[in-house]
Amino acid sequence: MKTISTVQNLRALRKDCLINQKTVGFVPTMGNLHNGHLQLVRAAKARCDVVVVSIFVNPMQFGENEDLDNYPRTLDADKEKLRSLGVDALFLPSVAEMYPRGLAQQTFVEVPDISAILCGASRPGHFRGVATIVCKLFNMVSPDIAFFGEKDFQQLQVIRLMARDLSMDLNIVGVATERESDGLAMSSRNGYLSKSEREIAPALHQILLSVRQAIASGERSFTSLETRFAAQIEETGFKTDYLVIRNADDLSLPQADTPRLVILVAAYLGSTRLIDNLTVDLSAAETE
Ligand code: PAF
Repeated sequence: MKTISTVQNLRALRKDCLINQKTVGFVPTMGNLHNGHLQLVRAAKARCDVVVVSIFVNPMQFGENEDLDNYPRTLDADKEKLRSLGVDALFLPSVAEMYPRGLAQQTFVEVPDISAILCGASRPGHFRGVATIVCKLFNMVSPDIAFFGEKDFQQLQVIRLMARDLSMDLNIVGVATERESDGLAMSSRNGYLSKSEREIAPALHQILLSVRQAIASGERSFTSLETRFAAQIEETGFKTDYLVIRNADDLSLPQADTPRLVILVAAYLGSTRLIDNLTVDLSAAETE
């Protein structure tokens, strides 16, 4: 596996792929890799000739009160995992390489509306930071296909809309959420949980399953479902940020006959904010 730290060298690798007619799969990450990330890499390996993974802890997507400096950095272990999966290139740029004029001067990409709701309401500027860095990475890597986890459902929608609005020539693939055996969605943030919080954490997935069950058995009063189950989350020891049922295609408010729904949840356990989601396909069999 090649480690590349400059845009210039990355472009040279991309040029070689073009000359040799090799397709390029791209998995952007912020490191601290867990099995969820590795599933993205496996998906990329299955579909593309050359796989590029980036590790960049993007300061632009962290809020002022979010702990950028303490974000877990586990580079040696990450490299080992990527090497063992046969990744071709690791792009590991510095902040100066990504933001040469500094963050304050940086041109940004903002996807309207969707960036301001749900996680965007709780984390102002977050999706602007995500859209900007992903746009820059796409311009640097020029992937044929880019892979993102469905756990960050709203992020995936923001990126899909950005790519469509800006006529980007690539495919974006969402990969199903990887879960621990007790149902907890894999996330770098799980490492922040204390032992007792870790025991409570799988309740989030259980509640999503209960909401999905209620919808599948015919309940269509979405707002009352939201209120009822948000209260249940609190009873298990979380502080709910939101629990909402939305149209899975654009996160708009659903109608009784919306065919594909998504139940989205964000809740705090102590100071750790966890998110999760589950889709409900009412047009056919249920899927996650
Ligand atoms: O999901 C993440 O890890 C980040 O938001 C991403 C997409 C790598 C952009 O920094």
